[in-house]
Amino acid sequence: MAILIDETKRVLVQGITGREGQARTKLMREYGTNVIAGVTPGKGGQTILGVPVFNTPHEAVAALGEIDISVLFVPAAGVKDAAISAIEAGIKLTVLVPDRVPVWDAMEIAAAARSNNARFLGPNTLGVLSPGKGVVGMIGGRAESARQWFKPGVPAGVGIISRSGGMASSTGYYLGQAGVRISTIAHIGGDAVLGIRIPEAALMFEADPLTEAIVIFGEIGSTQEEELAQLIHDRKITKPVIAYIGGKAAREGTRFSHAGAIIEGGRGTHAGKVTALREAGATVVDAFGELPSAVVEILKRIKGKSLMSEAEKNAAWHTAITHIEPNKVAVRGYDIADLMGRASFGATVHLILTGELPSAPIGRLMDAVLVASIDHGATPPSALSARTVASTGATLSASVAAGIMSINRHHGGAIEDCARQLKAVADRAVKESITIDDAAARHLAAMKDAGERMPGFGHRYHTKDPRTARLFTLAQEAGVDGAHMKAARAVEKCFADAKKPLPINVDGAIGAILADVGINPSVFNGIFMIARTPGLVAHVVEEQTREKPMRRIDPVNHGYDGPSARSLPTS
Ligand SMILES: CC(C)(COP(=O)(O)OP(=O)(O)OC[C@H]1O[C@@H](n2cnc3c(N)ncnc32)[C@H](O)[C@@H]1OP(=O)(O)O)[C@@H](O)C(=O)NCCC(=O)NCCS
Repeated sequence: MAILIDETKRVLVQGITGREGQARTKLMREYGTNVIAGVTPGKGGQTILGVPVFNTPHEAVAALGEIDISVLFVPAAGVKDAAISAIEAGIKLTVLVPDRVPVWDAMEIAAAARSNNARFLGPNTLGVLSPGKGVVGMIGGRAESARQWFKPGVPAGVGIISRSGGMASSTGYYLGQAGVRISTIAHIGGDAVLGIRIPEAALMFEADPLTEAIVIFGEIGSTQEEELAQLIHDRKITKPVIAYIGGKAAREGTRFSHAGAIIEGGRGTHAGKVTALREAGATVVDAFGELPSAVVEILKRIKGKSLMSEAEKNAAWHTAITHIEPNKVAVRGYDIADLMGRASFGATVHLILTGELPSAPIGRLMDAVLVASIDHGATPPSALSARTVASTGATLSASVAAGIMSINRHHGGAIEDCARQLKAVADRAVKESITIDDAAARHLAAMKDAGERMPGFGHRYHTKDPRTARLFTLAQEAGVDGAHMKAARAVEKCFADAKKPLPINVDGAIGAILADVGINPSVFNGIFMIARTPGLVAHVVEEQTREKPMRRIDPVNHGYDGPSARSLPTS
């Protein structure tokens, strides 16, 4: 549903410590881009906006594993070395934002890309943006504006290829205003020597299952539009192509704004491009202002899903969670009737919180996390609060809400706090080039000096929490064992070495597991609330039906009179 960039791509920023590098990293992350590392020679070891900085792309790949895209905010003179170092580190796409890159340097980058089976976009590119998924480069500016202007290509969108940076954004904006969804906007750059050109980008859109049509902002000079016409003629591009070609009034030998936009030897004329595209079957509009309506007409003709309904077009705000239509409910795009009976509750919680259904083992793990936290007796603050409020004659909703309101930093919150501390341990190991055991020791020492306790370790009641071992077994079965779980084992070992047996508790285990599953820690407390709610309902109803109003509730001294221990039936 997108080309080149989406939310799964791991992105490196070269020149991250510079003015533009820092500003753009912030904006890219705010839009959802997964920026995992930065590079500035001589500045390795720093952290910018929580992103670790390395001296070379090679070091970044060695420390963090495969990186999909590197985006460069390095001044022109440094672009050749920076790009080639990324390509040689095995990064398959480099996005060259800087302008004024010497043509010879671009040619050397092209040769390096060819021999390493890699691609590059630019130079002199604003980058690429897939609405709702991610951006590399500068398209869209502030995340908030980009979200408003470019409508995500769900269930389908049109692909935009532009030879002008400013017009890449404008085309996306005007298409959005006309009610057209977009899969990806790609600005290929304005220089004479380019990496990905119109024909290659068009072939990517042709292969993208949910791109329905291709919109081109072309201009005079080069043979890109003519090559596209040939691809259409040869049926290698079969999706509708709608184009505008800028520079109609330019005379031969006059550069039209960009280095690559020049007619030489009668090649690359406006008339030649328009004729070639029209003869091949593309729609070419005469004025840019006609482009949105031409796209809408074609989408209507092909019953395109990229076209928004009037209601969607006029919506004052948007949600990406659940779509309600008469007689239809779709959660994150899945028909709820299909989910019912087929997706487990844990898998559906994963879906609604992350946007995607998990694999079957991760779904089982999610179920186990929810079951593990369903109740922990009558003494935790949430159960006591819920029962106390229920004893006043309050309603079920008020009593359960009281229980939920007691879930905070010191009750349930260890899940998120522990995950964040474990990440800090893992990051320290990378940043200081030390083993994870040493990183854990240094981190715990620093916490001790600051008078802080490591959340998620030790338990005031259990010495060997029965839930933790089971969760780790299920995590192992699901193949979940990432940086957080490794850091958790290192912390546990560190406590044991110091003769302080503080094993990871259920909160810590859940935090480490959910973080390694890739779920955003900001929803961890929410997952605990979701899990604990059935337990709270049970406590409230029992309080209301079994006990006298306004009784004095002893917070500790109580007995259990439920069923004695029993086993699950063997299936
Ligand atoms: C690339 C560009 C954005 C950089 O501008 P800038 O952020 O103001 O430049 P800065 O000097 O602040 O930062 C560059 C950083 O790259 C770093 N750098 C230099 N060579 C490097 C390399 N090989 N690898 C990684 N980083 C490198 C520098 O050390 C510097 O970081 P520092 O300030 O921490 O030392 C600018 O040169 C440019 O080309 N702007 C035009 C972009 C544009 O309009 N593109 C086309 C759109 S249509």
